[in-house]
Amino acid sequence: MTAQRSAAPVFRRFIQVPAEQPRLRLGSIAPNFQAKTNQGDIDFHQWLGDSWAILFSHPADFTPVCTTELGAFAKLKPEFDKRGVKMIGLSADDLGSHNEWIADINEVCSTNVTFPIIADKDRKVAFTYDMVTEDDMQNIEKKGLPFTIRSVFVIDPAKKIRLMMIYPASTGRNTAEVLRVIDSLQTGDKKGVVTPINWNAGEDVIVPPSVSTEDAKKKFGEVKEVKPYLRYTNVGK
Ligand code: BEZ
Repeated sequence: MTAQRSAAPVFRRFIQVPAEQPRLRLGSIAPNFQAKTNQGDIDFHQWLGDSWAILFSHPADFTPVCTTELGAFAKLKPEFDKRGVKMIGLSADDLGSHNEWIADINEVCSTNVTFPIIADKDRKVAFTYDMVTEDDMQNIEKKGLPFTIRSVFVIDPAKKIRLMMIYPASTGRNTAEVLRVIDSLQTGDKKGVVTPINWNAGEDVIVPPSVSTEDAKKKFGEVKEVKPYLRYTNVGK
């Protein structure tokens, strides 16, 4: 169950949003929604199926930083496929705009955007996933509907939110970091290990405190004990 909190009344005056806004936490179920995408209407949970996924948002179509981000994510689709991760973008414009913008992205970035992009003109998904700034939320009357910020949600096959990244509109994300955290989560799930600072797939991982060194040696083979609480091993890629 996802905990709920009341929607800001000012937001509700301008947007047809549910009375409650889900409280998003690591481990909570990613809220379901229905939306239009450039590849057809979706029910988010049905679209997820039992796959890993990333849901990533953008402020607006035809904006420079977003264009570089979408192009970079599109080029890396084979890497996400390799990890069994579906991709879905979101931008706060309509489908006609999305289709024209995708043509631009493909031209400018020499790529082919093949994952769906949600048209969130009314900010319903942005509201549900809290992809808005405090300033925009407080000034809807003056500024109009809020921009969507740059969020990334990593969702696992049980539909649980496993990781959230929240970037301001001014800062483009790092696609390598998105892949890196997915590698960490999937390696942790498969092998029962945790990963240190700046870890990349294939490098030494850490034996979690809940596992004794004796059990870790049985499970992983070599274990390097730097301190009784800091023990490294290698589980391959
Ligand atoms: C951009 O994608 O370039 C952008 C979007 C909104 C605000 C600032 C930059």
